[in-house]
Amino acid sequence: MAKASRKILVTSALPYANGPIHLGHMLEYIQTDIWSRYQKLQGHQCHYICADDAHGTPIMLKAQQLGITPEAMIEQTNREHQQDFADFNIAFDNYHSTHSQENRELSSQIYLRLKENGHIKTKTIAQLFDPEKNMFLPDRFVKGTCPKCKSEDQYGDNCDNCGATYSPTELINPKSAVSGATPIMKETEHFFFDLPAFADMLKQWTHSGSLQEEMANKLNEWFDQGLQQWDITRDSPYFGFEIPGAPGKFFYVWLDAPIGYMGSFKNLCDKRDDLNFDDFWAADSDAEVYHFIGKDIVYFHSLFWPAMLEGAGFRKPNAVFAHGYVTVNGAKMSKSKGTFIKARTYLDNLNPEYLRYYYAAKLNSRINDLDLDLEDFVQRVNSDLIGKLVNIASRTAGFISKRFDGKLASSVNDEHILQHCIDKQAIIADLYESREYSKAMREIMALADMANAYIAEQAPWKLAKEEATLDQAHKVCTLAIAIFKVLVTYLKPVLPQLAEDVEAFLNVELSWDNLQDNRFGEAINPFKALMQRIDPKHVEAMVEQSKQNLEATATKSESTETESAVADSELSKEPIADEITFDDFAKIDLRIARIVKAEHVKEANKLLRLELDLGGESKQVFAGIKSAYSPEDLQGKLTVMVANLAPRKMRFGVSEGMVLAAGPGGKDLWILEPHEGAEPGMRVK
Ligand code: MSP
Ligand code: ZN
Repeated sequence: MAKASRKILVTSALPYANGPIHLGHMLEYIQTDIWSRYQKLQGHQCHYICADDAHGTPIMLKAQQLGITPEAMIEQTNREHQQDFADFNIAFDNYHSTHSQENRELSSQIYLRLKENGHIKTKTIAQLFDPEKNMFLPDRFVKGTCPKCKSEDQYGDNCDNCGATYSPTELINPKSAVSGATPIMKETEHFFFDLPAFADMLKQWTHSGSLQEEMANKLNEWFDQGLQQWDITRDSPYFGFEIPGAPGKFFYVWLDAPIGYMGSFKNLCDKRDDLNFDDFWAADSDAEVYHFIGKDIVYFHSLFWPAMLEGAGFRKPNAVFAHGYVTVNGAKMSKSKGTFIKARTYLDNLNPEYLRYYYAAKLNSRINDLDLDLEDFVQRVNSDLIGKLVNIASRTAGFISKRFDGKLASSVNDEHILQHCIDKQAIIADLYESREYSKAMREIMALADMANAYIAEQAPWKLAKEEATLDQAHKVCTLAIAIFKVLVTYLKPVLPQLAEDVEAFLNVELSWDNLQDNRFGEAINPFKALMQRIDPKHVEAMVEQSKQNLEATATKSESTETESAVADSELSKEPIADEITFDDFAKIDLRIARIVKAEHVKEANKLLRLELDLGGESKQVFAGIKSAYSPEDLQGKLTVMVANLAPRKMRFGVSEGMVLAAGPGGKDLWILEPHEGAEPGMRVK
């Protein structure tokens, strides 16, 4: 069945270059990778393009804090990102950076064309300016008191307390989050992209089937509110591209970021003779372009981006596919709970294909959030991948090697079962194409259930005991292997490593077009365990490790054009908790205690056992401070403990309280010590 080969360019959003990849990001890269691998498996020409998003104020400030150039920082991050993606088997055809020559040229070309076509307007605006740092302040880099509810320490664009949105000039007592200085108002000339001029085109594009229904509805709301001129200028100092003809003015990071898709593709075309940039991006291109993105960046991709492309004479994307957000154990990823899990921490503990499968088993074409429930993750992977899929081969392949010299039977008796699996091909293809991966996984697992039921009923291990039924045992095992081959082919976009191992095992390339090649009569290789069950201990270790990684990693919100400088103050990392009454406080009995003994606890890699003297009474406490202190540092010292905390039974004994310490964890932990004169047993109040 020869299908016309499609020319497809597919992208994932470009991750910011100021933080590590985490499991939230991975949802998007796995979703896109599955789709791209599926298209390639269909024989289509598909190019999966990505890059780091390397510009903007947060990146500039972070590099300053680290005392290195932004170039050095983004280069280092780029290497780490690429390694994380490679280890998750994300098969980009090109991974580049927005801070590249290609992107610089394309950004200025697009800007100049927009300008020539009358889509750029110039306006003088007044903005808050940090007189100490000599820089204009993006809204989120100004903090002050909310003009509505008077709550202190709020960002310049909205209030966390009452939810009000306002302009930073309305803040009471505003302060620069970069230097703490009081900002002044200063005028500056900015360039604006004339988005309203594209309203009609965008309305039409929105309803041309390019967008998911939820997204089209959202866009309608935005159209009703009216489109605004978009400020694409940032004043120096800024890490980005200087605007042609406007010294000291830079493109706002969100102008050149999506152009980075083109820049990365251009970089690929320059490396390959058979690829032509214009074939994909010219206004009359017959290639298909798709962007996979998260729900938080829909505005940029479905309004600004198509309008910019149209205004500069390029083609628009065929579709933008948005997905929801990853939560872990039902809640937002949290550093203190250890559920803010970096890609690297996951990889240190678990096989990447488990997560690929789990996400596939829960993904659909809509924009709802997806929960990574860690218990369900273990259960689901063990039951589906090990218990159902791999089980088909592991309970039958051994016979083929041992009893039949590694050769499959040349015919089987119940071929209709195999045929039934092959007949599902078109349905499964449609489900991949329409990004209904969870339904595809369900179809495939139903086939695996059927195969296992057949094997159980035939019981080849019994048939193989009698000479008379040995031939039937051979046929049953052969049929099982043939079904296994079909199912692993279906799963190839999701589990590329497993597919590769099965190809080695069966001596055949798994392709969409050779499902009928059932290998009857062929030799196969000895079966090696293809995948291990997940031991929940590894998941626990990953969570523990994530808790220890508390040092400032850029979360999604920190990495938007805004917070990361702010994020470095201790208070913004952990805002002051809700107010309590004095009576609430009085319930906590804090006492001076002498550490009479401190020792390691066998088998506990974070804990020290402390014996505390409260002036007559002694208490035992297990404290998670081993990474920062050795026992001899502590013995004899005074500290402060919570003396009336309910005792907690631990694996090593009962912990009868808590000592007080500050710091993010790891080596950075500091125990409280009273001034000289305090005596064990004194109450702290
Ligand atoms: N740099 C911009 C994108 C520019 S595209 C021209 C950006 N970067 S990001 O690093 O913050 O996010 C990259 C992608 O990962 C986005 O599509 C974002 O929605 C997605 N995710 C980040 N955190 C996520 C979750 N917790 N869950 C699911 N996707 C998440 O935005
Ligand atoms: Zn408020």
